[in-house]
This record gives sequence, C-alpha cells and structure tokens, in this order.
Amino acid sequence: MPSHLKKLVAARMEKTGESHQQALRQVRAQEDRLRAGAPNVGIRQERLARSRVVADTAFSIARVRAQEGSRGEGERLFEDPYAHMFAAVDEQTLESTQRYLDLPFFYDGVRLRTRFIDDAVRDGLAAGLRQLVLLGAGFDARGLRMPEIRQRRARVYEVDTGEQLSRKRKMLSAGKIEIPASVAYVPFDFDADFETALSDALVKKGFRPHAGALFVWEGVIGYIGSDEIDRSLRFMASIGGPRSRVVFTYAESTFDPESAAECTRRAGFTTCEEVAADELWRRYLGGEPYEHAHVMKIAIATV
Ligand SMILES: C[S@@+](CC[C@H](N)C(=O)[O-])C[C@H]1O[C@@H](n2cnc3c(N)ncnc32)[C@H](O)[C@@H]1O
Repeated sequence: MPSHLKKLVAARMEKTGESHQQALRQVRAQEDRLRAGAPNVGIRQERLARSRVVADTAFSIARVRAQEGSRGEGERLFEDPYAHMFAAVDEQTLESTQRYLDLPFFYDGVRLRTRFIDDAVRDGLAAGLRQLVLLGAGFDARGLRMPEIRQRRARVYEVDTGEQLSRKRKMLSAGKIEIPASVAYVPFDFDADFETALSDALVKKGFRPHAGALFVWEGVIGYIGSDEIDRSLRFMASIGGPRSRVVFTYAESTFDPESAAECTRRAGFTTCEEVAADELWRRYLGGEPYEHAHVMKIAIATV
C-alpha cells in the first residue's frame, strides 16, 4: 500500500475507531471523490485539496467541543466557551464537518482526547514547564480557556498554516475576543525546514530554546508522512531540551512496524507512556467502551 494511503488509513482509524478494513474502504472512496472533484490536477493541487480537507476537520472538532457546554455540569469532561465561534465557513466545509460528526466514535474520541490532553497540560505546568507549543493548533482554544495557563504565567505558541491561523483570528475577532499577549500565532507549514524556519519563527515570538516545553500534537500526525513525524519529534526534543514533553494522538497502526516508544526514543525522548481510548473511556466516561475505541491512542513522551 502506498505510504500516503497508509497514513490516511491510520488517521481515519484514529478519528473514527473503524477497523483497518473499514477505514481503507472509506479512504479509497474519499480519494476517488477528491479526484472526481478535481480531475487532471497536478500533484501540488491535489496536495492542496487534501490539506484543505485536513484544515477543515478542525471545524468538526470545534463542533464537538462546543457541544460539551450543553451537557450537565457533572457530565462535562472540559469547558470550551470559545469553540462555538468556529463555525464552518461554507457549504462544502459544513458538509464535510457533518460527515465526520456522523461517524460512530468521532464525538467521544474527541471528547476523551481533549480531556486527557487538558490533564497532561495541567501536569506539565505543575512540573514547571512554562512554554506550551500547539503544533497544528487548529481551533484549539487552550491558550484562552485554561485558567491554569494564565495563573502559571505560561506562554502558548500556536503553530499552523498562515491560512488556518488567520481564519482563527478572524472568527475570534468576530466574537469580540482579543488574543492575549501570552498567546503567539506562529504561521508555519510542516513541509518547511523545522531547524531553521520554525526555530527562528518561535524564537522571534519569544520562545526560549532548551528551557523546557510542552508540545501538544493533537489530531495531526495521522496526516503527515513518517519523515515529517521523525523530523518533528527530533525538533521538539532538541529545541525543547531537558524535561520537555510531547503529548500526541495517533492510531494503533501509525508507527508500524515500529512502536511509538521506539520512534520517540530514536528522536531523543527517553520515556513514552501510551494509553488507548478504551482505557480513557473507562476512566472518564465509565461503562463499557465503544468496541473499536482501542484503535485511538495517545502518548506522552519525555526528553
Ligand atoms: C485535525 S486538525 C487538529 C487541530 C487541533 N490540534 C485540535 O485538535 O483541535 C489538524 C490541524 O493541523 C494543521 N496542519 C495539517 N497539516 C499541516 C501542515 N503541513 N503545516 C501546518 N499545519 C498543518 C491543519 O491546518 C489543522 O488545523
């Protein structure tokens, strides 16, 4: 199977909790739709169309987080009063947003990972980390919504494409939300050079290399290639320095034939704790987990 297809299947498994076979069938259908919608386009245009789809998934995630507010107080796994501001921008995005929301494990998968990562951020802050880097930030509003970040005087660096960050800025501004000085937007495409371009961009916004950082890589690695995963991990371990951590979501087949622990170790991390969503389900929701929940995984690796 071509490696880009393998990545798309893993990303879909992570998102939906579908088996490998089910995810492969859906991905093939999606690829066919993509080609049918844009026949005879070059590789660059096809890549752009695909990255647009990835950027648009952020809207579905925001819808899940917005809905959390309508649950009873004892039932909520997190608070995100900003999520409702990120409403799909056009008919096509609305349609793809709904397609994700109709998947059987999408809601609970996003709820569980959001809560787990919130807890990981609180732990990182309690351990003394004061730099939080959201890689592929999308409409993640942790920099606005988590009081612990402000209380600990931590700084948040949101890394995403320029286009996605400017959409985010516009929607927050339409809701009359001012972005605080503790939150910096860092436009960057993961295709560019991490060691120079991202490093320079972060430092320009005040990031202190080797002073320790917590990287959040949520719902992203399923969309990038193995080389980009390796480069990103090496970059995080080296620019963050001692005590740095990364928390990331993936599907159980993402690192095949390696494991997440082996891959992070090669990049300079020393420990890697993995947890599957069926365990998170028992921890946060109680009761019997959705049958394929185990395919979605989260890990925390520490330098
Ligand atoms: C599925 S969304 C997840 C957003 C966010 N982490 C969350 O969980 O709410 C993936 C994000 O990664 C960003 N992304 C994907 N490929 C990227 C690339 N090559 N360079 C920069 N950002 C990218 C997309 O723009 C999108 O905002």
